[in-house]
Amino acid sequence: MLEIAVTRNTRPGNIPAADNLGFGHHFADHMFVMDYETGKGWHNPSIIPYDEFCIYPSAMVLHYGQAIFEGMKAFRTEKNEITLFRTNDYLNRFNRSAEILCIPQVDTKVVREGLIQLIQLEKEWVPDKFGTSLYIRPFIFATDPYVGVKVSDTYKLHIILSPSGAYYAGGFDPVSIKVEDKYVRAVHGGLGEAKTPANYAASLRAQVEAKKQGFTQVLWLDAVERRYIEEVGTMNIFFKINGELITPALTGSILGGITRRTVLELAKQWGIKATERTITIDEVYAANEKGLLEEVFGSGTAAVISPVGELSWKGQKIVINGNKTGPLAQKLFDHVTGLQYGKVKDTLGWVETVARI
Ligand code: COI
Repeated sequence: MLEIAVTRNTRPGNIPAADNLGFGHHFADHMFVMDYETGKGWHNPSIIPYDEFCIYPSAMVLHYGQAIFEGMKAFRTEKNEITLFRTNDYLNRFNRSAEILCIPQVDTKVVREGLIQLIQLEKEWVPDKFGTSLYIRPFIFATDPYVGVKVSDTYKLHIILSPSGAYYAGGFDPVSIKVEDKYVRAVHGGLGEAKTPANYAASLRAQVEAKKQGFTQVLWLDAVERRYIEEVGTMNIFFKINGELITPALTGSILGGITRRTVLELAKQWGIKATERTITIDEVYAANEKGLLEEVFGSGTAAVISPVGELSWKGQKIVINGNKTGPLAQKLFDHVTGLQYGKVKDTLGWVETVARI
């Protein structure tokens, strides 16, 4: 077992009740940290109190945004076991984002071990109500004190934990989505595939305008022709058209979601034709016109499976499945959460128990 120094928090906080958590507001008492320096590599893995930290005002991340993050969850089962879901897939994606942002690769075994030891220490912070979880946020940022543009030589990695409820205030209720035709999120050859703050910064203006117009999120189209569907701000998107499940192919400008992959793998297992390909917004509207658009839903770690009840493109609104959750979205939600909360037997090696209360 990797030796990880632990410094205990002498001012532990109160663990919030599971019934009114919201998403991302509360933080557990400890965090995992590690440092990087060129020539020395990643070093000093430790668990320390969750607290403010010091960086220089000139730290490169503040000026040029060299940073990445991940989003995972720990769940509490009815038997009070703490489970993680597809951890290795998330950590491999962390390294893919690192590659895109010129951040040195992490040893996923070390980060995994640090994460598991942190969860074991903070297991009481995993909320016990179905639909809640301990959201896990690993992130890395550049710390060189320098205001020229270059790749940093020093970095900090943190993993913080946030007991959370559903990402959308409406929980599993269908969401209303604006198809964005003015702003774009990412371009081919850019950062779109990486989990990096820049992609979320790029989404804010469209998100603010969409919220004012009464929408929950925006659906991004490609940056060149504004026709090809990409993803929603915090989730990948699926369309069920005439019995076939379709999601945009990973062409570099959208995030390769782990829940997206889970949906594709489950659909195939269940004998549903599931296709990754380019799909235009015109095709979706035409399918709706012909009565062939059966379901639309998003997939994401935070959002899980989120049914889409309405789409609005250039002021033209369509209502999907009577603004109700469709049977496939429901089945996927039940199965994925069933695996995570230990109600459905895992036959694919996706779930691991890391602690018991
Ligand atoms: C996740 O689903 O984990 C995400 O990263 C979305 C988020 C920005 C809250």
